[in-house]
Amino acid sequence: MKIGNVEINGYAALAPMAGVSDRAFRELCVDFGAGYVVGEMVSSKGVTYHNDKSIELLALSEKERPAAVQLFGYEPQIMAEAAKIAMKYDPDIIDINMGCPAPKIAMNGSGSALMKNPPLCGEIVSAVKNAVSVPVTVKIRKGWDKHSINAVEVAQICEQAGADAITVHGRTREQQYMPPADWEIIRQVKKAVNIPVIGNGDITTAVQAAQMFEQTNCDLVMIGRGALGNPWIFKEISMLIGHERPTLPVSTAEKISVMLRHVQKLCEYKGEYVGMREARKHAGWYFKGMRDAASLRRKAGSIEKFDDLVELCKSIEM
Ligand SMILES: Cc1cc2nc3c(=O)[nH]c(=O)nc-3n(C[C@H](O)[C@H](O)[C@H](O)COP(=O)(O)O)c2cc1C
Repeated sequence: MKIGNVEINGYAALAPMAGVSDRAFRELCVDFGAGYVVGEMVSSKGVTYHNDKSIELLALSEKERPAAVQLFGYEPQIMAEAAKIAMKYDPDIIDINMGCPAPKIAMNGSGSALMKNPPLCGEIVSAVKNAVSVPVTVKIRKGWDKHSINAVEVAQICEQAGADAITVHGRTREQQYMPPADWEIIRQVKKAVNIPVIGNGDITTAVQAAQMFEQTNCDLVMIGRGALGNPWIFKEISMLIGHERPTLPVSTAEKISVMLRHVQKLCEYKGEYVGMREARKHAGWYFKGMRDAASLRRKAGSIEKFDDLVELCKSIEM
């Protein structure tokens, strides 16, 4: 499938996840067959104020293509200005966050709060679209709450304003991340627009990815939590849907080796101090399902050095 003029090879994208889908994890997921990756949300205001932390989040490498930068905000002109600045970092796509439920984002009118004001969604898309030369996409939820389910309306307004694709997470803002995602709303959005629709919510296995395609007719699926400590999910989806040659189930030894590669990248890109602190949660996710996982997780929770993690892994029964 294509988003605007950008070719997406593969069936599944890595979801934007603040604090998780950084360069190290995006590159790893691309290695495992993710056809498209979206970076952590970045504040449009932070970018226009040249805040170092925001600017750092815009960086993309050549090993993670095609990739989108995701911006959040509520002022069309600030969003447009931030998108122009983001273009210096050569994103393939600019994605607009219309789904974040976090109070500090939604309470100032950004993220999922935009869905309460569909005309503003359209104004933001058209301002960003006019500011950049790459495709512009939006990521929405089902609606704000059960009394205002308007994903179809918002998707149509965004399409009319020039959006090149829509990602739909099948939950309202009120539902946050908990109740099962509603895939029916994704099917309804797909029926209502002519641009590609990316289906998102609750895919943790390749079989579920295939079911999402079948039930919603979406053009691409997007995986968030199902990829935590599990970049293999992209390979499994390619195998099942793309009829690629199956490989053996993932062994503990392979899990450890991929985890160490992931953490090494984190340390390389962020320095060992920050990298190892961020590695703690990833290690916990990779350890899931292993013998003594709880104890491994506890030990990883205070690890300071890459070499200490290597030592801890030596204690794991393969
Ligand atoms: C830790 C975490 C951080 C997230 N950060 C973002 C974000 O920056 N931008 C965004 O649009 N969605 C964000 N999301 C939502 C995911 O992209 C996705 O829509 C949601 O997790 C549902 O998909 P899943 O069931 O595959 O996890 C985040 C989710 C999690 C769990």
